[in-house]
Amino acid sequence: MLSSGSELRLLRLLFCATLILLFQADEAKKDSKSACNTCEQIVDNFNKAFDRTAKQNFGGGNTAWEERKLSKYETSEIRLMEIVEDLCESSSFECNRMVEEHEEHFETWWFKKKTKHPDLHKWFCIDTIKVCCPKGTFGPDCNACVGGSETPCHGNGQCDGDGTRGGNGKCRCDQAYKGDFCLDCIDGYFNEVRNDTYSLCTECHLSCKTCTGATNQECDECKEGWEEDEQEACVDVNECTNDPSLCREGQYCLNTEGSYSCKACDIECAGCSGPGSDQCQACASGYQDVKGTCTGLMYMFMTSCLSVIDFSMNKLLPF
Ligand SMILES: *[C@@H]1O[C@H](CO)[C@@H](O)[C@H](O)[C@H]1NC(C)=O
Repeated sequence: MLSSGSELRLLRLLFCATLILLFQADEAKKDSKSACNTCEQIVDNFNKAFDRTAKQNFGGGNTAWEERKLSKYETSEIRLMEIVEDLCESSSFECNRMVEEHEEHFETWWFKKKTKHPDLHKWFCIDTIKVCCPKGTFGPDCNACVGGSETPCHGNGQCDGDGTRGGNGKCRCDQAYKGDFCLDCIDGYFNEVRNDTYSLCTECHLSCKTCTGATNQECDECKEGWEEDEQEACVDVNECTNDPSLCREGQYCLNTEGSYSCKACDIECAGCSGPGSDQCQACASGYQDVKGTCTGLMYMFMTSCLSVIDFSMNKLLPF
């Protein structure tokens, strides 16, 4: 019989082991994706170095001797060595490990397979070391993505693990699309075109929450801040006339499409119905109503002085 103490220890051990296994499975999936990325980087660098070395040994001359030398170099081991040296950044551990592990494959391809299988990515990453899959397929056996390998996710999303030996083949839909197959539209969009294999989602009118077409008459439901009128079209709600007390003292309410905002009154006003000193409800202290506009006392004083001076000048200097 186990004592309860050792039972507990056993449970804890099992729990930890499960966690570790789960964690490793997750890591392995991620690893399969990143291994493919590493391989693609290597192939990319291979092709670049291949192009670079093509020019490198060409002196510009065209003597028979030089051409013979060049054509020998083209397929030589020396050139392959120069290329392989350039496949990884020295800091990239993953890359260097992959090249080291599979160095003999590069030789095989270079001397034996290159002519028949010119696509190094396909030959090396997909068919030989099996870290990538053809486009539109995913996972250990390169199964087709949701929606088929021709148009994964029906062209409206990203297939998880696409082109790698990892992932689960499920779709992450682009903006505007949803559902397992990325054929449905999210709220605020409608299906402009739709069949079993193709879907185009287009944005609804600004006023619709959901809709069947592009105008404000084709809303299923109005967005907040909009309401149905007699023609069943969604129109802007004027929040400011519906509820004049929306804004604080010293502010006026400004209606906007689908909403409203509160703006500060002019300094001359004590409460106002709009911008400017001619829309005050009352004048602030220090200001006086002059023909419907709240005006500063200093300004009034100065203008009256000027008119007195003007008047006197006219009297004194009658031209
Ligand atoms: C679905 O619609 C697309 C685009 O209009 C079209 O190319 C395709 O042939 C259609 N497929 C079917 C099965 O009707």
